[in-house]
Parts: sequence; structure tokens; C-alpha cells
Amino acid sequence: MGANLRGGAARTPLVEATARPAHGCGLPCQVSLEAFMACAVGGCAGCVVEVQTESGPAMKRVCVDGPVFDARTVYHTPTP
Ligand code: FES
Repeated sequence: MGANLRGGAARTPLVEATARPAHGCGLPCQVSLEAFMACAVGGCAGCVVEVQTESGPAMKRVCVDGPVFDARTVYHTPTP
């Protein structure tokens, strides 16, 4: 399939390929994530994605907390 379905939301390689260089250059970058949505109102948690917060990893719902996220919180692993 090629998409990272960790947490249910699709973080595609193309989006990641855009976000990582921006992060490496210190540029602000926002990503719009797609996810399969069963309810679309925040009730089922079927669209969650793991993001990095100041207090550690957290699960956010793409349908109500996104779909736009700061790329640094979604792709939080160090750049090579
Ligand atoms: S689709 Fe149900 S919580 Fe997002």
C-alpha cells in the first residue's frame, strides 16, 4: 500500500518527503493528513494519528484535531 497506517491515519511517503527537508532546514511546515473516517465527529477514534507533544506522544483525531498538523509533531523522528 505504501502508506504509513500507524495509528490509523495515512501519513504518506510523499507528505513525509516534503516535511522532513522542511524540518531539516528549519522551515515551518504543515501537513494535511487523510484517514478513513467512520464517524467524522470524534466519536470512534478510527482516524487517530500519533503526534509528538511537549509531554510526549499523544493520539490525535484527524477528523476533529486536524486534518492539518504541524509536520514536526507528526514526523518527529530525527532527520538522517
Ligand atoms: S472518524 Fe471517528 S473519531 Fe475521527
